[in-house]
Amino acid sequence: MQLQIAPSLLAADFMHLADEVEMLNASADLIHLDVMDGSLVPNLSFGFSVIEPLARMASIPCDVHLMIVHPEKYFQRFVDAGADYLSFHLEAARKARRSPAKMLRDIKAMGAKAGLAINPDMPVEEVFPYLEDADFILVMSVFAGFGGQKFIEATYDRVRTLKAEINRRGLNTLIEIDGGVGASNAAKLGECGATMLVAGSSVFKSADPAATIAALRGE
Ligand code: DX5
Ligand code: ZN
Repeated sequence: MQLQIAPSLLAADFMHLADEVEMLNASADLIHLDVMDGSLVPNLSFGFSVIEPLARMASIPCDVHLMIVHPEKYFQRFVDAGADYLSFHLEAARKARRSPAKMLRDIKAMGAKAGLAINPDMPVEEVFPYLEDADFILVMSVFAGFGGQKFIEATYDRVRTLKAEINRRGLNTLIEIDGGVGASNAAKLGECGATMLVAGSSVFKSADPAATIAALRGE
């Protein structure tokens, strides 16, 4: 399956967001939008006021990654704001004592693709019970909270394990990787079974972001 590249807007130039979206419309597969609340993760980012106008301008799907406590309170608002893909952390569901399966089904009922995210210290087997309900699993390859971190090598084995279980059960659940993704690991992640790659710094800090996206895709 062809790799889909989801540049993370966190690394974009916020003074020129419209230009960045135009560039992504022409070159990327998805736009990855990181929402942080300073509670589930030790950082803050942006919310509805940024996502709404941006999603209106985007001609490719918006992939909203919620790094917030009680994500279920905001699913409908993010879908209304334009989220086509919406993921939350298993860690957040546990904290809220909510059923991840129900949360995934709720997102799907709202018309978006539902994703379950896990940090690098969560055993990948913990998502196995939710592979039927999730459209995609977001495997973090750095600890959620900041762009520009170094890719954790143990991710490859986690992706292989996850992909093997998805195949064993004959499912179509997609695997997305987020954190430290760039030219040195994209192809190998694809070989391990990932199909969606989030890339912030490697895209936006490069001299030619559109060319970098194409290269990550393997073109
Ligand atoms: C980190 C975010 C990532 C981040 C990726 O918590 O979820 O999406 O923006 O940035 P890079 O590609 O720079 O690691
Ligand atoms: Zn992210």
